[in-house]
Amino acid sequence: MVAIKKYDVIDQSTGALDRSIFIDEAVYQEELEKIFGRAWLMIGHESLVPNTNDFFHTYMGEDPVILTRDNNGELHAMLNMCRHRGNRIIRADDGNAKNFMCTYHGWTYSSDGSLEHVPGEERVYFNELDKEELGLVQARVDTYAGIVFATWDHEAPTLEEYLGDARWYLDTLFNRKDCGTAVLGPVKWMEPVNWKTPVDNCSDNYHVPVTHLGSMLAQEKVMGRPRLTGEMQFNTEYHTHLSINGHQITTGYLLEEDDPRYFHGTTADNIHIFKDYQRESLPEVERRLGSHRARKLILQNHSLFPNGVLGLRLALPRGPLMTEFWHFVTYEADAPPVMADALRWGHGGANGAAGTFEQDDIDNWRSVTEAAKTPIARKFLNNLSAGVGRFGQRDDYPGLVSDRYVSEHNQRHYYKRWQDFMNADSWADIPLDQQTAIYEGDAGLHG
Ligand code: FES
Ligand SMILES: [Fe+2]
Repeated sequence: MVAIKKYDVIDQSTGALDRSIFIDEAVYQEELEKIFGRAWLMIGHESLVPNTNDFFHTYMGEDPVILTRDNNGELHAMLNMCRHRGNRIIRADDGNAKNFMCTYHGWTYSSDGSLEHVPGEERVYFNELDKEELGLVQARVDTYAGIVFATWDHEAPTLEEYLGDARWYLDTLFNRKDCGTAVLGPVKWMEPVNWKTPVDNCSDNYHVPVTHLGSMLAQEKVMGRPRLTGEMQFNTEYHTHLSINGHQITTGYLLEEDDPRYFHGTTADNIHIFKDYQRESLPEVERRLGSHRARKLILQNHSLFPNGVLGLRLALPRGPLMTEFWHFVTYEADAPPVMADALRWGHGGANGAAGTFEQDDIDNWRSVTEAAKTPIARKFLNNLSAGVGRFGQRDDYPGLVSDRYVSEHNQRHYYKRWQDFMNADSWADIPLDQQTAIYEGDAGLHG
């Protein structure tokens, strides 16, 4: 029997994309179930809950989630919903607590989610309540280089399989040092855009010299940074652009091995600090990642399917026409304070709520979302045709690699992955790319 696909929204041979997926409420509800209910989602960072009984409040899609470190040091991601009548158990953003008492009738849960106490257990429930079955709803949790992921789907592949060879590239920014990463944030704000638009945009290299011209001129003038020109972006000699399991990666070759691994935050005045740090770190990074990745590769714009936007930054869905953005900054935990400070204001000034690059982008994203709202505009499909059919496998880069750095290869494959999830009855129907990368060095999934 031929399976009937419900969604056929992206034509891989022309790059034509149906815009109704950005505004339709029924599609959105299905996304919450089939994408946010199945995928491994970034929800935080281990350093947000360093001690036993620490908690951090986060989200998986629209579902409120409590990330805890229990009495034994184990991480849990649990639905912030009382198993009695559904009240939220905690209202704080973070803190430390051995127990969480629901403020409706007083059911009380421990930091590992088990139901510990029910008022009137004998007088109200005749001791017939099965407390074992009524703990908080638990997601599966795992970590990659300190970043915490969770999935509701107990049939999902492992996080390692889910990331696949995207990790080969991600390691070059997030998994360089034994000390792991530290995190700043999150800064949170709302944007009247569909959640997919910022994700599709963050591996789009085409827009950078145009959309961000003003911000880059300002950086050039104030910070003494060389401006990224269209000519540099179109140069495919040192950059590439690839897709793995719906994760979109752009990567580059370092010209000098002590070049900073960070884009924002460096200035003519502080660049020597970043270079010194890279030079001093190199033997350790080489042991962890092997010579090629340590010395040559740099991670550039990237997204993790479904809603990661440049590193640990989240596009949280809040209806088809609203996104809650969470902006974290990660950096190596042993970075000197002056470097951490430069990254804090550099990233905040570029990609936070007040960031100039973010504001450049939001204006486009908002307008693109608006274009899907009327039946007249919706008749005309999005054109994602740049570089159609011009991609393949390469020996030096794992993944499906675009022939050109500036291409809509990543956008086409992002929406293809979206479609794979939306048309699947279960994880058994969702393909995973074969892993071919050789992970030289001793860095692993957990650091
Ligand atoms: S809803 Fe939580 S105790 Fe009743
Ligand atoms: Fe941008």
